[in-house]
Amino acid sequence: MSSCQAVAPGKIILFGEHAVVYGRPAIAVPVSQVQATANLHPVAAGGLRVVAPDLKRDYRLTDAAPDDALSQIIRLTLVRLGQPVLPNAVLTVSSTIPLGRGLGSGAAISAAICRVLARWYDQPLAPAEVSSLVYEVEKLYHGTPSGIDNTVIAYEQPVYFIKGRPIERLVVPRPFTLVVGDTGIVAPTHQVVGDLRRRWEGERERYEAYFGQIGAIAVRARTLIEHGVDSTELGRLMNDNQALLEEVGVSSPALERLIAVARQAGALGAKLSGAGRGGNMIALIEPQPEVVQAVTTALEQAGAAGVLVTEVTA
Ligand code: PMV
Repeated sequence: MSSCQAVAPGKIILFGEHAVVYGRPAIAVPVSQVQATANLHPVAAGGLRVVAPDLKRDYRLTDAAPDDALSQIIRLTLVRLGQPVLPNAVLTVSSTIPLGRGLGSGAAISAAICRVLARWYDQPLAPAEVSSLVYEVEKLYHGTPSGIDNTVIAYEQPVYFIKGRPIERLVVPRPFTLVVGDTGIVAPTHQVVGDLRRRWEGERERYEAYFGQIGAIAVRARTLIEHGVDSTELGRLMNDNQALLEEVGVSSPALERLIAVARQAGALGAKLSGAGRGGNMIALIEPQPEVVQAVTTALEQAGAAGVLVTEVTA
């Protein structure tokens, strides 16, 4: 066996987070500027050693705790590949996707591990298979994941996603530009999703109405994106989606500050992305360099822990 490597991108949810857990549609796109990387390097003996400097982990797979996420995806993938014996190798996992900030770091790390093992054994896995393996691990750590993260990361394509339905690719005839601003606050997805579920259990009718409105925004956004129309209405939809996310209680002052700053600096619309409470916000902008510069600078000056600019294409 020779060394091999695989990567997986980060992701952004454009519309529909949280409501997607309750069966409404959502739109997500991959972000290739940040990625998780998995390397497998052969060694003479000793089974599989896992080295993940970003996670401060270095251990033999046989010593892993039963709830260790990396060993879960490794074991699931080896079963899928029909490989009962651990390879003699060092698996090194690294990621430029900030952890716990709504950019899909966990799903991307799992997808990169699946892919590198598939490459090692020369048994390619289709995106659907990578997606379903990653989903198994997401379920262990996120409670009730919709499946949107593993889907968009495994397929590496913009998706229009409804839980439990076959993937629908989103056509993007006219690329558009997003600025992504990081609050620097880590907010575990399962906590934000769990807290919202408790509120939903207490007042189902009210929350179902919010989720219905969020779903309708995702439907309208899909039409706009697929017809390649002017971005002004898309920006307004982002603002409307943000207002509803505030209503359901998953926003935060830090997110709202960056969102306000981006709008003031010229963004067409802005909202949180992912689970919320912390993590990242996104702003839709006109692609002119001066607008990119103005919004980026405004977010940096407002204290964003990181800012990146990405173009959504298909
Ligand atoms: O914060 P992230 O990247 O894990 O995104 C979560 C998206 C939610 O809709 C809040 C949860 C889900 O499972 O879809």
